[in-house]
Amino acid sequence: MINRVYIFDTTLRDGEQSPGVSLNMSQKIEIGKALVELGVDVIEAGFPISSPGDFEGVKTLARELKGVEIAALARANRKDIEVAWEALKEAENPRIHTFIATSDIHLQYKLRKSREEVLELAEEAVKFACEFTSNVEFSAEDATRSDWEYLAEVVIRVARAGAKVINIPDTVGYTVPQEYYELIAFLIEKLKAAGFEESLETGELQLSVHCHNDLGLAVANSLSAVLAGARQVECTVNGIGERAGNAAMEEIVMTLKTRADFFRTRLGEALETGINTRKIVPTSQLVAQLTGMYVQPNKAIVGANAFAHESGIHQHGVIAHRLTYEIMNREDVGWSGSAIVLGKHSGRHAVDYKLRSRGWKLSKKALSRIFERFRAEIKDVLRRIPDEYLEGIIYDEFLSEA
Ligand code: KIV
Ligand code: ZN
Repeated sequence: MINRVYIFDTTLRDGEQSPGVSLNMSQKIEIGKALVELGVDVIEAGFPISSPGDFEGVKTLARELKGVEIAALARANRKDIEVAWEALKEAENPRIHTFIATSDIHLQYKLRKSREEVLELAEEAVKFACEFTSNVEFSAEDATRSDWEYLAEVVIRVARAGAKVINIPDTVGYTVPQEYYELIAFLIEKLKAAGFEESLETGELQLSVHCHNDLGLAVANSLSAVLAGARQVECTVNGIGERAGNAAMEEIVMTLKTRADFFRTRLGEALETGINTRKIVPTSQLVAQLTGMYVQPNKAIVGANAFAHESGIHQHGVIAHRLTYEIMNREDVGWSGSAIVLGKHSGRHAVDYKLRSRGWKLSKKALSRIFERFRAEIKDVLRRIPDEYLEGIIYDEFLSEA
């Protein structure tokens, strides 16, 4: 099986469906260009039939963005697919992404259709989409709450109809890592038994995953599916998306990179993505600013505190050797500046380190004086203290009378 994991970014489609988010055209283009720079493989630009704004957004991005696949979402019917193609057709590498739900809950309450009817609609939609492009993805919405045997029937039918990527969404964030692993492994076995072994090996046919974060498991579930053999991961920058969001791109990419050893041990080789990790933080900040969905400080990788050390013991360790409390290099994901922050938990080592990095080399006695005063002054302060504050103390203690 191929060792490349394809990153399908849906920030501009599922991410934009976050409550309260609405991007205008120039903002979509700015994010689209940043995603190309970041190195994602596919950008899902929108759901063209859903609104004139989405249609125009997909059309413009399809025309403007080069060196990336552009996908557009369409329900499993002719009208949606025609409109999606109309929006997509100028793209360098267009992909039609058609979907229909496969769970009995959706069939009964939303679609009001039988399993046999949905099976036929899925097959027809993929065949119809293939009349426009050979690059067709099919998603079985609410796959994780679907009957596994029925889901496998749908998956095999759409593979035979020509789908190149088959996505198994955890639409409501319901599954757990072990269960999702077993589901993906089960579907791969079924596809192999149906004659798709070679296409799966070469990557000509791929299973994809798309996880929502309702139980906070979207990233864990996606990675579990990758271990089982999925090779496309659908995700968003900062994990934005409907309800609790989608799997966070930065967490998936950095786990594959940081724990390459683990994946190598399990799969025989490490898995790669095409992401330029140094662009992760700038892209995250751009998306936060334009969507208004600000990132919580303790968010992995891209949160303001993700690489910050304030407590004395951690600061002492990191100053001695960063590996004591850091598993990644902050520069590798695009952070700059110091990881040591001054606050009420900071110790003497951090104060000494900060002063030295600003050119001050104090005697032990002078350092103690500065440290005691620093501690006394900021003991009730909850926020970070700017480095210049220490220089203010030096001035007060030693230089003001000179
Ligand atoms: O969550 C979901 O099931 C989706 C599909 C349309 C892929 O967003
Ligand atoms: Zn989704």
